[in-house]
Amino acid sequence: MSLTPQQMLTLACDPAQIFELCGLTPDPWQRDLLRSKDPRVLLNCCRQAGKSTAVAALALHTALFTGKSLVLLLSATQRQSGELFRKVLEFYDALDQPIPALTRSTLSLELTNGSRVVSLPGNEGNIRSYSGVRLLVIDEAARVEEELYKAVRPMLAVSGGRLICLSTPFGKRGFFYHAWHDHETPWRRFLIKAQEVPRISPQHLEEECRNMGPTWFNQEYGCSFETPQGLVYPDSLRA
Ligand SMILES: Nc1ncnc2c1ncn2[C@@H]1O[C@H](COP(=O)(O)OP(=O)(O)OP(=O)(O)O)[C@@H](O)[C@H]1O
Ligand SMILES: [Mg+2]
Repeated sequence: MSLTPQQMLTLACDPAQIFELCGLTPDPWQRDLLRSKDPRVLLNCCRQAGKSTAVAALALHTALFTGKSLVLLLSATQRQSGELFRKVLEFYDALDQPIPALTRSTLSLELTNGSRVVSLPGNEGNIRSYSGVRLLVIDEAARVEEELYKAVRPMLAVSGGRLICLSTPFGKRGFFYHAWHDHETPWRRFLIKAQEVPRISPQHLEEECRNMGPTWFNQEYGCSFETPQGLVYPDSLRA
């Protein structure tokens, strides 16, 4: 499906159209996120809410319509940031590559408009060289170490780029937990629990609650920062 000039124009004005053009209907919060312009965004979402899909669409939209933009995808491991990058490529291909690629690999995509999307490894030593970042995405942010977070934030200092952190909670620790509770920094917050996700059935939730126990269930499906019983986090992991 090649996009018509009219579809390109509509898409340029409304990032949520990526979903529609790919045959998906965005959930209301996905639509809000895609249309938002907030420079700092936290998505505290249950498992399988559709957070990676929504942010992948936003990452692609930034690369397509903000020329010469550098979009970085970071997670705790290269495999996880690579999964997010795959979703970016899936949208790009589903739209029939509306701006041609100069180079493309399993880790990065460079477009003829000068934009790049790069999937980063989860270790600090290999990520310091990037500057001029337009959008920095941190997926599974609750599992990303504080040191890595501190290493990437300065990349936004000069560029004034956006930062979007998305995660399901993982204990009362780490930068994502602290950012979620820090009301002095003007984060735009999205909170999406499983009951709001039309693709997750009440039957599935009942079964999960029975099998996993309330602490785990509240973390995975209720967006709650839980401390699993008997687990003591080492001081090195505390912020
Ligand atoms: N608006 C939507 N319409 C239809 N399917 C959707 C929509 N949003 C997401 N999905 C589908 O839901 C599934 C979960 O999406 P995704 O991987 O983005 O969720 P997630 O919140 O990142 O999950 P996880 O917690 O496992 O990382 C995928 O199969 C995705 O294609
Ligand atoms: Mg995900």
